[in-house]
Amino acid sequence: MKNLFTRLLLASSLFALPASDALAQQEYVPTPENLQSRQEFSDMRFGIFLHWGLYSMFAQGEWYMQNAGIPYAEYSKAASGFYPSRFNAHEWVSAIKASGAGYITITTRHHEGFSMWDTEQSDYNIVDATPFKRDIIRELADECHRQGVRLHFYYSHLDWAREDYPVGRTGTKCGKDPKRADWPSYYRFMNAQLTELLTNYGPVGAIWFDGWWDHDSDATPFDWQLDEQYALIHRLQPACLVGNNHHMTPNPGEDIQIFERDLPGENKAGFVDEAAEVSRLPLETCETMNGMWGYKIVDQNYKTTRQLVHYLVNTAGKGANLLMNIGPQPNGCLPATAVQRLKEMGEWMQTYGTTIRATQAGDIPVQQWGATTRRGDRLFVHILDYNRRELYLPLSCRVLKATTFPEGKRVAVTKTSEGVVLTLPELPQGIDYVVEVQTK
Ligand code: GLC
Repeated sequence: MKNLFTRLLLASSLFALPASDALAQQEYVPTPENLQSRQEFSDMRFGIFLHWGLYSMFAQGEWYMQNAGIPYAEYSKAASGFYPSRFNAHEWVSAIKASGAGYITITTRHHEGFSMWDTEQSDYNIVDATPFKRDIIRELADECHRQGVRLHFYYSHLDWAREDYPVGRTGTKCGKDPKRADWPSYYRFMNAQLTELLTNYGPVGAIWFDGWWDHDSDATPFDWQLDEQYALIHRLQPACLVGNNHHMTPNPGEDIQIFERDLPGENKAGFVDEAAEVSRLPLETCETMNGMWGYKIVDQNYKTTRQLVHYLVNTAGKGANLLMNIGPQPNGCLPATAVQRLKEMGEWMQTYGTTIRATQAGDIPVQQWGATTRRGDRLFVHILDYNRRELYLPLSCRVLKATTFPEGKRVAVTKTSEGVVLTLPELPQGIDYVVEVQTK
């Protein structure tokens, strides 16, 4: 059931956007609520990404429909068998919160086109098309709000199922007739869906767009009309952050910058546009815990807790958030290995959260041996991979003292012409050997 407000909104003007939204983001000035939300976002430093949809049933990752070339007419039959009997929002949110993560980003509708909430814009959704009939986004939102975990919505710009979406460089094998493309209709559909998500589920931390790149090779540049869409989001929830996984320098109206499988400034994954710059917006890197985003039954290639912690430390050392992905199973459970990793990361965060949350990139860029983070006059030196007791730090600030964190063992500091040398009381050990340097 939709609330009255959404019904009225849906009835009114068929989602013609107010004129004030058009081009409104060109000179985008974030509201005070938005700026505060950006700060809170950055302070969390760690979130969990959840890729969950019909694709989870096939257990081959979220691109299965396209990769296997399955037409919508066949693929969509899976909906009538989707019954995640073990889904329990309380268990998910509790496990994620215990990991030290501050927010969850969940796929509300991925490229396959299936909506995971009770949308009125299409029957191809979890309430109308499955025997499960439960709005999992509602359950998750309620639980997140109860537990004080922020909820972000991943939303795919591209759609392999709908005829009105103009086919780009993917979705070519899903049985669509390109002649039936109707961008204005699809754009109205997306904005109506976004309005539902931003009206019926309480405060939304961010909308995380993906799929822009589907039209990055068009002969005539494709106009996604992002301006008006971003303005709609900011009008409905001024504090809601807009992010777009387009791998480019952010556009006006975007509040965070996203990096896929790369630390900001790197391009190991090969997605980043050559001209892309690291902006001054809050930064977020997303990465998978195993190899795939959506559940893939054979993918047991999980990163160790040590690797995950190192990734988190390195993103924090770059002044960025880490959004670590889990692909829930079709039965509604998080994979057991992922739950174990969450628990172990949580144990680490219990002790070391202070050196990660509400920090900025440290004075020294990420190094082979580790990374640094700063909180006020406390500089945290995270020694991740180093086998000596002397560590040179090229610091220009004045160092008052250094101790191991959290034990507080004294670390000798020797000044040099260009910085200091720390002499550790022992060889660095553990997942992350942290030295707290008091600076002035
Ligand atoms: C890519 C993939 C998509 C995934 C996303 C997460 O854009 O197409 O499947 O959701 O990365 O970063």
